[in-house]
Amino acid sequence: MGKFENKYILITGASKGIGFTLAENLDNLGAKLILHASTDAGMNKLTDSFANKGHLLFKADFSDPLSLEEAWQSQINQDIKLDGFVNCVGLRSRRPLTLLKPAHVMQILHANVASFIEMCRLICRKNGFNPGLSIITISSIAAHSGGPGVTAYAASKAATEAAVRCLAKELFKKEIRVNSLVCGQVNTSAYADLMETKSDATDTILERQYLGLGSTQNITNILLFLLGGESCFITGSAIPADGGYLS
Ligand SMILES: NC(=O)c1ccc[n+]([C@@H]2O[C@H](COP(=O)([O-])OP(=O)(O)OC[C@H]3O[C@@H](n4cnc5c(N)ncnc54)[C@H](OP(=O)(O)O)[C@@H]3O)[C@@H](O)[C@H]2O)c1
Repeated sequence: MGKFENKYILITGASKGIGFTLAENLDNLGAKLILHASTDAGMNKLTDSFANKGHLLFKADFSDPLSLEEAWQSQINQDIKLDGFVNCVGLRSRRPLTLLKPAHVMQILHANVASFIEMCRLICRKNGFNPGLSIITISSIAAHSGGPGVTAYAASKAATEAAVRCLAKELFKKEIRVNSLVCGQVNTSAYADLMETKSDATDTILERQYLGLGSTQNITNILLFLLGGESCFITGSAIPADGGYLS
């Protein structure tokens, strides 16, 4: 019997990177998954990768938090009680202040902050979860260490960490834990895209991240711990998974 046998776990942003590796691990460990993506390509990848596994799919655009309630209630059986929720959606933003217009800032804050809070609201309703529900959202070292051009992304991740502290204090009476995982640089397609935009192909972050580039499995190992009962004494925390970057 797998460690997460018959546990219902929602992964938003499951079609790529960290979310996809987590989905593969939890599938192997017997979990019943609700896998989210925002595009047809993402949904098709999930359908092909987990054919005949009985997992549920959820499609929604986090840039539009107002649409999530209708999307969640129309696509997902509301009798399901969740044991875990891992939010891996996070829109990147790299723009100098001169190009940082309100519409762009709002899009990043909607997708990275408002939609995470909205998903928490939707699943933490009465009868929507089992006691012991563990919620984790992926933050970034950018929330703690600023860089030019990363203003909107860093602000969104810092806001999410602040929200996590408040939610943890509000939800513990319902036996719900809430944490964020503060990731350093991880080897995903988004990272490869970023490196392609650089003229000299060097990553200055890795000079401070002395354990080297992280893998999606490195991050997944910690997410599995935070989802499981062994981490029952941890809530309201921003836990570094940063290869030493913030030390
Ligand atoms: N990779 C790193 O080095 C790194 C470092 C620090 C923190 N993080 C954080 O870790 C998390 C996962 O990053 P990742 O690099 O593994 O994956 P990613 O490439 O950022 O993709 C994650 C997911 O986001 C979904 N997504 C994209 N736009 C969306 C939207 N408008 N609404 C809803 N979902 C949307 C994608 O679905 P579709 O396939 O449908 O587009 C995909 O499943 C993010 O929060 C990121 O900020 C990553």
